[in-house]
Amino acid sequence: MRFLFVIFAIVAVFSRVYSETIPDEIDVAIEVTDEELKAKAAIKDFEIVVAFGQAVENVDNNNPETIAIELGKVVLLKNLRNVINDMITCSRLIAKRVVDLVRQYNKVLPRVQRNCAAFSTSITMNQDKFDFPRRIRGSKESVWVEYIQLALQHKPLNLGQGFPDYPPPSYVSEALLTATSSNPMLMQYTRGFGHPRLVTQLKKLYSGLVNRDLNEQTEILVTVGAYEALFCILQGHIDEGDEVIIIEPFFDCYEPMVKAAGGTPRFIPLKPNKTGSEISAADWVLDEKELEGLFNNKTKAIILNTPHNPLGKVFNRQELEVIANLCKKWNVLCISDEVYEWMVFEPYEHIRICTLPGK
Ligand SMILES: Cc1ncc(COP(=O)(O)O)c(C=O)c1O
Repeated sequence: MRFLFVIFAIVAVFSRVYSETIPDEIDVAIEVTDEELKAKAAIKDFEIVVAFGQAVENVDNNNPETIAIELGKVVLLKNLRNVINDMITCSRLIAKRVVDLVRQYNKVLPRVQRNCAAFSTSITMNQDKFDFPRRIRGSKESVWVEYIQLALQHKPLNLGQGFPDYPPPSYVSEALLTATSSNPMLMQYTRGFGHPRLVTQLKKLYSGLVNRDLNEQTEILVTVGAYEALFCILQGHIDEGDEVIIIEPFFDCYEPMVKAAGGTPRFIPLKPNKTGSEISAADWVLDEKELEGLFNNKTKAIILNTPHNPLGKVFNRQELEVIANLCKKWNVLCISDEVYEWMVFEPYEHIRICTLPGK
């Protein structure tokens, strides 16, 4: 007998809800629409942790609590709670994978087996068009999803995110108040690349810092934070097949953004050049030969981060020259993330790689 099944991943709905409202248990319900078997089979008792990560084929039959399967990672655990914490981005795709899992592993999940015993093998899925678009499939959730939740739970001293405990200077708040309360013209659409007054001021500041007369109309783009800047740069420059060198450890958005743009990340680690307890941020270095070995005709860009998060390393001139020379040799774009440019302390000096000779 063949039945039609409609599969609901209730988890997908919950995933949109902020983690504080996560329920203790979430069902993945399999609804049978066939007249003869109008029933709902709820798979409870375990968690479905879905992390759209790398395709992983990691099936451990001896350990029913950890079943990871290709196309992201689906892990079934004892109840459904943690999953949702991590699963801010989830899709109906999960339902499909869950059913696959249920079929494949029902021997290790007896309850699931019971629930599924009545089902036929014919499952009609009409949800492909709502799968994640290919360009973001396989992305893992941001580490912040997990860390923010953990911080809420355990209330630690949160070194992962910056929370200034002092107000901004009063002239900033006052200027904001004046601008937003007195002049309605300031609440209109503005120039998309950045408000003229703002880009003019940025040009004045940065022309001095990069030793070049910047054109505020064509060389300055105002974005909502560095995330958006990175996103725009990568979307604007990276094409299918391009390789982008990423220095490890790295700020977590680099990799998914490169992949979403169609690029292939190529990683190189910073490694400590000595052992012992007195290792400082500056002792973490790139192996020049290894770096050189990553450059090839497909290399489109390298992402540099100085001052570096999380190491605190400030790249020195000689290190920047190595990178710059390879970029010149291979005609590669250096995307320099300098969000911490104002947080450099003596004896270190922040050197903007764009001030090195370009030719
Ligand atoms: C190295 C690095 N790049 C980019 C960002 C994102 O910056 P923003 O908060 O301005 O989007 C951060 C934020 O922590 C960062 O550490």
